[in-house]
Amino acid sequence: MTAKIISGSEISAEIRSELKERVSRLKALGKTPYLGVVLVGEDPGSLSYVKSKEKGAQEIGMREVTIRLPAETPESRVIQAVDDLNKDRDVDGIMVQTPLPCHIDTEKVLYYISPEKDVDGFHPVNMGKLLRGQPCFLPCTPHGIQEMLMRTGNDPSGKHVVICGRSNLVGKPLAALLVQKKKGANAVVTVVHTGTTHIPYFARQADILVAAMGSPLFIKADMVKEGVVIIDVGMNRVEDKTREKGYRLVGDVDFEDVKEKASAITPVPGGVGLMTVTMLLQNTIESAERTAGIKQ
Ligand SMILES: NC(=O)c1ccc[n+]([C@@H]2O[C@H](COP(=O)([O-])OP(=O)(O)OC[C@H]3O[C@@H](n4cnc5c(N)ncnc54)[C@H](OP(=O)(O)O)[C@@H]3O)[C@@H](O)[C@H]2O)c1
Repeated sequence: MTAKIISGSEISAEIRSELKERVSRLKALGKTPYLGVVLVGEDPGSLSYVKSKEKGAQEIGMREVTIRLPAETPESRVIQAVDDLNKDRDVDGIMVQTPLPCHIDTEKVLYYISPEKDVDGFHPVNMGKLLRGQPCFLPCTPHGIQEMLMRTGNDPSGKHVVICGRSNLVGKPLAALLVQKKKGANAVVTVVHTGTTHIPYFARQADILVAAMGSPLFIKADMVKEGVVIIDVGMNRVEDKTREKGYRLVGDVDFEDVKEKASAITPVPGGVGLMTVTMLLQNTIESAERTAGIKQ
């Protein structure tokens, strides 16, 4: 058996065409969804993420502004930029691109984003609501993973989902999302990390395995069971002198090694990354729909 490809590009395009229609509906009501991004410094990864957000927003007819600040900007100025976006009544969603330079306390800055505009879903209020199963902005990467599973007939309900990695960005919110007694969730969830003595023991029990460690090609064929569905969140740059840029992107899963054993797998690139941006655009549109009074 060769694994089916769960294509982030295809699913993303499908969702974005739905979003485009929602933007048109809002525009007819006089409201254009508006995303405000704060970018501090010139981290190459961050620059490329912001570029894909700008492009994505433009393609579906949304407004977007990126406030670009130099790397040495004091924390207070970054908070000021967030607050300006909070106060701007036209702005529906705010995101601060991370990582921020070391002299800035990321948690503190994220705390300043108004929970009503926190389209990344990282504010403690939204994280708390997620855990309690209340309506909130769902964090983009976990939500994108859930959409990929549901739209490819891999409903996690009743399945054993093993998540490798417990970051605040991916692992922990994904566990909180998939454990809810709700449609698209209701899974048995195990989270493994560097404190786990024998990761292969847990990984082999997974019906759905999510790798979010930042550890290139960590997951091998002998660590998964036959027929597993694999979501590879990892985005790692590895040196490759044959490429113009001198590197290529690989996931946390050894795709070539597992592809005959898994039933379905996301590629890197072309997998989860695109979904993350799409869900950010979706959250901004939801916020605009609330402002326009067409969504609770
Ligand atoms: N595609 C996307 O849209 C997207 C979005 C976000 C992140 N990513 C990518 O996903 C990866 C993870 O990102 P992140 O922000 O979650 O990373 P992170 O904050 O560094 O967290 C990594 C997690 O994996 C665990 N881990 C790392 N190496 C491990 C190992 N060898 N064995 C067991 N556990 C290990 C860590 O355990 P401890 O907690 O014990 O340290 C930690 O919980 C990165 O490659 C990142 O670029 C992609």
